[in-house]
Amino acid sequence: FFTSERNNDLAGVKALVTAGPTYEPIDPVRFIGNHSTGKMGIALADALADRGAEVILCLGPSGFLPRNKTIEIRRFATAGELLLLVQEHWTSVNLGIFSAAVADYRPSHVADEKIKKSEDSMELQLVKNPDVLFWAGQNKSDQQTLVGFALETTNEFEHAKGKLKKKNLDLIVLNSLRTEGAGFGHDTNQVTLLDKDNNCVNLELLSKIETAQKIVDYAREIHQSK
Ligand code: CTP
Ligand code: CA
Repeated sequence: FFTSERNNDLAGVKALVTAGPTYEPIDPVRFIGNHSTGKMGIALADALADRGAEVILCLGPSGFLPRNKTIEIRRFATAGELLLLVQEHWTSVNLGIFSAAVADYRPSHVADEKIKKSEDSMELQLVKNPDVLFWAGQNKSDQQTLVGFALETTNEFEHAKGKLKKKNLDLIVLNSLRTEGAGFGHDTNQVTLLDKDNNCVNLELLSKIETAQKIVDYAREIHQSK
């Protein structure tokens, strides 16, 4: 299914991609964030658009931008903002690829003023964020194809398969943090693709651009068979 002829083979497809980290505010000057650069999702948006898809990229606080000028970029900072963007666009797309590194928790209260230091220790209370991908899976029609990511460090396959099922996905991209040169901050990645029929494809260590092409090849194959 890894096609060599990719010219405009996604014409007519409308795709939504989520990418980048979330920043959950603590006070006006501080936030809880993560190391995601957004590069994998940006590469996916470019790969889709280069092949003729109409692409909406929901992009978090990343310093990088896609190269393809046809991509519509919508910015978010928090998980709550991302959920609103996805809810706004989900019914109008046929394909979703959710690669954003969304914070699982946010501060339960955002201070209006900068928090001053006082005691030797302090506690920050956190509350669970909405799971944006789960929401999309719950609101997915038979005609829509949904791809998620999983970042695991232990029992990788079991956990990724669990997420594939729980979130009603067609395909999950398992990100391995074990491989040297893969994941956060690198221009290369090493991923495993698991689909809902239990097929498993181990990709080699590739540039994020090449990895994106192969993920898009697989997603296109699934989408075409619907
Ligand atoms: N995701 C999301 N919204 C969240 C959390 C995760 O949309 N609030 C999406 C991510 O974009 C990714 C997938 O869910 O595509 C899996 O994210 P991951 O952090 O690996 O899994 P979680 O379901 O959050 O579980 P955990 O972190 O406990 O392993
Ligand atoms: Ca998580």
